Amino acid sequence: MTLEEEILALKAERKAVILAHNYTRGEVQDIADFTGDSLELSRKAAECRAPVIAFCGVRFMAETAKILSPGAIVLHPAPNAGCPMADMADAGAVRAWRAGHPGVVMVAYVNTTAATKTAVDICCTSGNAERVIASIPADREIMFLPDANLGANLSRKLGRRMLLWQGCCPTHNALDPARIEKARAAHPGAVVMIHPECPVATVEAADVALSTGGMLKYARESDAKSFIVATEEGILHRLRRENPGKEFFPVEPPLRCPNMKKLTLENLRDSLRDMAPRIELDAETIRLARAPIDRMLAI
Ligand code: 13P
Ligand code: SF4
Repeated sequence: MTLEEEILALKAERKAVILAHNYTRGEVQDIADFTGDSLELSRKAAECRAPVIAFCGVRFMAETAKILSPGAIVLHPAPNAGCPMADMADAGAVRAWRAGHPGVVMVAYVNTTAATKTAVDICCTSGNAERVIASIPADREIMFLPDANLGANLSRKLGRRMLLWQGCCPTHNALDPARIEKARAAHPGAVVMIHPECPVATVEAADVALSTGGMLKYARESDAKSFIVATEEGILHRLRRENPGKEFFPVEPPLRCPNMKKLTLENLRDSLRDMAPRIELDAETIRLARAPIDRMLAI
């Protein structure tokens, strides 16, 4: 049996659903039942009736799946695949930050731990952040965490002042405008799609700022034939597969999230075989962390 056949046999035996983020390895995306961005994966987890979810993404995403589908066993095949940005906003420090701002609305990017989600009012992803911010009355102060780049990009686009937690994604924060210009010079006329986790100056040097799901939609619907993709390189797999007549170029050197690459066919097979490692969260954390996610999904 090939590794893929083993996974498919175990998946059937366990009645499992495999969910994968757009940044995972191509072979992991290919075997998944559904591949998507953070928002799409949250929606899938919320509607999922399977007894087992094998989650191929970083830990906060698997935690979100457990929060939204608490009755399911959520397997996280690479338990050391964390998100450094999520780890930059410790729940205790976030509560202390909030303490000096009575009446504030605290908005947390989903890239936060389950514990930190228990301290906030509403979540957002890069796919719905504009709608979430726009839903907050203009006279309310907003605290945004943990991504200062996403917060600054939103603030600039919506003309809304926000207090920003100083976290970042090390993968996207390292992309400077010079690398965009270099890519434009190498691929004249290509549309530059960028992720809003990049710094403001770099986003200004690009053409459109989108979530990974937004990039897939934009590329599909656009008349353009070539694109520069300024986000984690894993997204190129779907962009190329779903748009055979179009060309997609990474910036050079490509952006790479080492944690997303920790999900492999081997550890996916092992987790389905062993039914471990699992995401375990206590009932109170699930209850409190679910409220800001539900508010986001209702928008
Ligand atoms: P999206 O797929 O929601 O755009 O998120 C990107 C990301 O960095 C996830 O960690
Ligand atoms: Fe976290 Fe950045 Fe990796 Fe996304 S790409 S999981 S934000 S480190």
